[in-house]
Amino acid sequence: MPDNMTGPMAGKTVLVTGGTGGIGKATAAGLAALGARVGITGRDLARTRAAAADIAAATGNPAVDAFAADMSSQAEVRRLAREVLAAYPRLDVLVNNVGGFWSTRRVTPDGLEHTFAVNHLAGFLLTDLLLDRLKASAPARIVTVSSGAQRMGRMNFDDLQGERGYSGQRAYNQSKLANVLFTYELARRLEGSGVTATVLHPGVVRTGFAADDPSPVWKILLPLIRPLLKSPEKGAATSIYLASSPQVEGVTSKYFENCRPYRSSPASYDEATARRLWEISEVMTGLKTEALSNPEVI
Ligand SMILES: NC(=O)c1ccc[n+]([C@@H]2O[C@H](COP(=O)([O-])OP(=O)(O)OC[C@H]3O[C@@H](n4cnc5c(N)ncnc54)[C@H](OP(=O)(O)O)[C@@H]3O)[C@@H](O)[C@H]2O)c1
Repeated sequence: MPDNMTGPMAGKTVLVTGGTGGIGKATAAGLAALGARVGITGRDLARTRAAAADIAAATGNPAVDAFAADMSSQAEVRRLAREVLAAYPRLDVLVNNVGGFWSTRRVTPDGLEHTFAVNHLAGFLLTDLLLDRLKASAPARIVTVSSGAQRMGRMNFDDLQGERGYSGQRAYNQSKLANVLFTYELARRLEGSGVTATVLHPGVVRTGFAADDPSPVWKILLPLIRPLLKSPEKGAATSIYLASSPQVEGVTSKYFENCRPYRSSPASYDEATARRLWEISEVMTGLKTEALSNPEVI
């Protein structure tokens, strides 16, 4: 389909993971309304196509594409990256938005704990696989959706997989801290490339979040506080801002809430932890199979 849109994002191509609902769909719609070609992802192709059609109808921008991949499977993340690279000769923005909360421990097809795999490793792997295309499209941006829960996060490298004890909240907090550590380490590695990496908390937003497998607390609390939560459109504002605003051109290695930079948790600034997480993630995603320089990292 030809790109003949006008608007500040005309001529730009954006990929938003998890664009079938919630914050991701509102982010994709906001960027499509600004004139970008937008790719969205979801697990089911028919549902993802229906969401893409909704976005196209709501924004008047026909350049909305659907990609299907279950990001709990690394083979599917790799296939998704191949499809995106084949479809998009340039990629200006990647929004790593997929994420969720699961109160019970699950294991992915790769044998990994599901929260860590979906919330951190999937975005880590997809970013790596799309990185050359983003660099070739520079100036480009990588925006990762974390959460205020990063403040409560602790990297438990002794039991990253929650094998010795799993709590949905602990696993979520850890994965959202991982999003921030990943972004800061990525920004260090991308210095001078023209590709920026930023991370954000969207606020507490009325979405399908945790609907799959909520904790007992969520089950009681959510219906009570639901009317007070942000709409998905408001929850998408910071993602859209970081993906598109000229005000943040060149801004990298920063954490945002409500379209403003904030300090993230003290733990997120620990460079040794970020490097260790990076190296472990490379091994867990099969990006590096050779012996680690420091076997202590695992
Ligand atoms: N909602 C909040 O209050 C809140 C607060 C802080 C942070 N966040 C963060 O915001 C991000 C978006 O959350 P949301 O509230 O918009 O959630 P949501 O309404 O549950 O939407 C999640 C999106 O991710 C997709 N998805 C879920 N699991 C997937 C998987 N295994 N593979 C591929 N896609 C998958 C879903 O698509 P399909 O179901 O169609 O596959 C959907 O498009 C997450 O990273 C979350 O941690 C949310």
